[in-house]
Amino acid sequence: MRIVTHVNEMKSIADEYRKEGKIIAFVPTMGYLHEGHLSLVDIAKKKGDVCVVSIFVNPIQFGPGEDYDRYPRDVRRDERLLEQRGCDTLFYPSTSEMYPEDFLTRVRVEKLSNILCGKSRPGHFEGVTTVVLKLFNIVKPHVAVFGEKDYQQLVIIKRMVRDLNLDVEIVAGEIIREKDGLAMSSRNVYLDPVEREQATCLFRSLLLAQDMVKAGIRDTKTIIEAVNDFIKNFDRARIDYIKIVHPDTLEELEEIHDRARILLAVYLGGARLIDNMEIDVP
Ligand code: PAF
Repeated sequence: MRIVTHVNEMKSIADEYRKEGKIIAFVPTMGYLHEGHLSLVDIAKKKGDVCVVSIFVNPIQFGPGEDYDRYPRDVRRDERLLEQRGCDTLFYPSTSEMYPEDFLTRVRVEKLSNILCGKSRPGHFEGVTTVVLKLFNIVKPHVAVFGEKDYQQLVIIKRMVRDLNLDVEIVAGEIIREKDGLAMSSRNVYLDPVEREQATCLFRSLLLAQDMVKAGIRDTKTIIEAVNDFIKNFDRARIDYIKIVHPDTLEELEEIHDRARILLAVYLGGARLIDNMEIDVP
């Protein structure tokens, strides 16, 4: 596996791949990789001829007081995991390489960036779209793979690609869960044993919503209230939001007719966890 730390070198490698007629499949990450990320690498390897993964903890997507400084990092371990999984090139730039002192530009997808997680994390999605567009320009992928765990991020990136006519196909990877249902996340390391146990309330509450829909309930207010009451049984959990939305537009639904997705964010101690699920309407 090649490890590349400079933007210009990564661009030249991408040009070489393209000249050789190779399909570049790209997985952007912030490192501290788990099976969720590695499942995206597997998808990339199926979709492309060469797989490029980036590891970059992007400072501009963290707000003041958020966890940028303590975000878990272990690039040596990540390198081993990527090598084993068959990644061809790891792009691992420094912060100054990505953001020289005179960097001024931001990319913003209006509306979609201010709702749900964007409400409690102002500026977060602007930081994400800015770095993702930069990474696309550097890695020049034909295909890029994003996990559905960050569902709002996936929708926003798809919209940016459409609005800005970018030549990259966005592919979604499904959520990978621990045995007890907790969605894999680098931030799960923040949980103490009690919080870790209680963190299953996110997945279990999604199943509860799904069961209510299966039982014929279509009114989202009733479902959200039940999910809210369920999570309140866990004393370490503090709800940020619970919403049922249209999967493409993220517009809140009053009634579930055909397609819907439930999204939630819950604090457990110092960790802010998110999860979501497609709701199957029988
Ligand atoms: O999902 C992530 O890990 C990040 O938001 C991303 C897409 C790598 C941008 O920094």
